[in-house]
Amino acid sequence: MKKRSAERALQFVEEGSVVGVGTGSTVKYFIESLAGWRDRIEGAVSSSDQSTALLKKIGIPVLDLNAAGQLPLYVDGADECDGHRRLIKGGGAALTREKIIAACSQRFVCIIDAAKQVNVLGKFPLPVEVIPMARSHVARQIAARGGQPVWRDGVVTDNGNWILDVHNLEIVDPVGLERDLNQIVGVVTVGLFAARPADAVIVDGEVRA
Ligand code: A5P
Repeated sequence: MKKRSAERALQFVEEGSVVGVGTGSTVKYFIESLAGWRDRIEGAVSSSDQSTALLKKIGIPVLDLNAAGQLPLYVDGADECDGHRRLIKGGGAALTREKIIAACSQRFVCIIDAAKQVNVLGKFPLPVEVIPMARSHVARQIAARGGQPVWRDGVVTDNGNWILDVHNLEIVDPVGLERDLNQIVGVVTVGLFAARPADAVIVDGEVRA
């Protein structure tokens, strides 16, 4: 189902464009199918070292976002998706670059299988990227808000930071929580994509606008 969603996303790719590419097992299928578009796109902007390696392997030029500017399309997976196309992302620790590319893209197409669909976000522990020296401070602030932060010990992001996975959240106000957690000093990025949700979601190969 992940593969079907990934392949369906090709219909959004524009001739001669630069494509924003996310991270994860679903995106891996997307990158594989993008191989057929190698000569029809200018290149890709990548959200992780992992995706950069995969893109280079199939011969797609990986461009600097600062040079590429505004992108017509960003394709990425998610860990959870609600009925308003709001997402939890960051299971693969690439949330910061993913959120930057999402912010720079006209259309964000999210590719998932049906198991990722939820009514209320929060069952999947919410990833928060933190500056290493602020880990305990951020964890205390999150605990004071009722969350249960767990350090993803041993994981260092592509930006050299650490991840806290926040359990025990029932996210009834995703935009408010995203804004609130963003205010905590030491937080780099919150894995809630609510203020800027996906524009379309492909579930099991079916497009849901
Ligand atoms: C990467 O940091 C994540 O945001 C992924 O997009 C998310 O974890 C989905 O990954 P899968 O496609 O592997 O389920």
